Amino acid sequence: MSSESRQRTAEETPAPLPVFDVRTHDAAIAAEIGAAIQRAVASGWFILGPEGERFETAFATWLGGGHVVGAASGTAALSLALRAAGVGPGDSVLTVPNTAIPTVSAISAVGAEPVFVDVDPETALLDLSRIDAAVRPNSRAIIPVHLYGRALDLDALMPIARHHGLVVIEDAAQAHGARWRGRPAGTWGNFGCFSFYPSKNLGAYGDAGAVWTADEEDARLLRSLRNYGQSERDRHERVGLNSRLDEIQAAILNAKLPHLVHWNQQRRRLAARYRELLAPLPLTLPPPAPTEEAHVYHLFTVRVAERGRVRDRLADRGIGSQAHYPTPIHLQEAYSHLGYHAGDFPAAEAWCRETLSLPFSPALGENDLRRVVQVLTETLGGRRDG
Ligand SMILES: Cc1ncc(COP(=O)(O)O)c(C=O)c1O
Repeated sequence: MSSESRQRTAEETPAPLPVFDVRTHDAAIAAEIGAAIQRAVASGWFILGPEGERFETAFATWLGGGHVVGAASGTAALSLALRAAGVGPGDSVLTVPNTAIPTVSAISAVGAEPVFVDVDPETALLDLSRIDAAVRPNSRAIIPVHLYGRALDLDALMPIARHHGLVVIEDAAQAHGARWRGRPAGTWGNFGCFSFYPSKNLGAYGDAGAVWTADEEDARLLRSLRNYGQSERDRHERVGLNSRLDEIQAAILNAKLPHLVHWNQQRRRLAARYRELLAPLPLTLPPPAPTEEAHVYHLFTVRVAERGRVRDRLADRGIGSQAHYPTPIHLQEAYSHLGYHAGDFPAAEAWCRETLSLPFSPALGENDLRRVVQVLTETLGGRRDG
């Protein structure tokens, strides 16, 4: 903390404004969520019961059809999808380096090798023009990530994947309701994986996730894999996992799902307002979504060269911020054995150096946004607008 901020008296310090706070996000429907939890507990069913079934049906309908299979987390959903696709040791899987590490841990969890592909410098999403050069003879699947709530152009990706015989497993952990040409992210490929981590656009009160698939057989396989490889009680056709969505989390998701469209609309409205307020400042705003895309702004991220200084100044004023993600996966210690180096993926690396997520939630108001912009203006200079 700087000496300037230490001098400020306690009453001058406004309430903390975190990057995201699930309590303020859910405040308006706290009673509904409480009742849902009570209902689940009173039912006496805690694993694979009516709440989970109801959620799987409701979320599949919300996504426009197909099958949804609940899982223990988004990471578990990705691992289940990879296993259902038959990916395992000796195979490689393409994905991007600027993602949450679980995208890549899921690949390692099935014994396959991650192969990275650089991203579009503008959007931070997979650069489709680089897939051909990255594919290896043992590549079996590709995991495009709909990062920050942006929908990647899957319409263009699908023929490339088909050409190389790659199974497409969408990482839609940050993109509940994002669309490309009207079709939801997570429903273009063979599998779509969602996380319901508490801070996600649709969040549970613990770990939770789900896999979407159009294929009934794959859905049956996923249901078996998540439940010890069981096909019916005491019959195990395959080696499986314990990776189930529990009933209390499913009940919470059932209470929250009907509000998701409204929350996503609020996110878009607030993102547009942030853009107006930030326009005069010397930082890079996220590129506007093209007409084909419905962006759901899981995060509101800008790019700024002096990220460390900006984050310190925001923190001094009680404002949270984060970098999603400061270290690209190919430069993480855990993946040093893959033999990649700094400079291998310049666009992803530049995003990791500069990306900055500002406080963002459908529950924020005009004053919250102005408070953030005020500090950024003081820190970076530029004309304060409005
Ligand atoms: C892009 C991405 N993929 C995968 C995951 C993994 O989800 P979970 O934390 O539910 O395992 C997350 C969430 O952290 C994520 O943001």
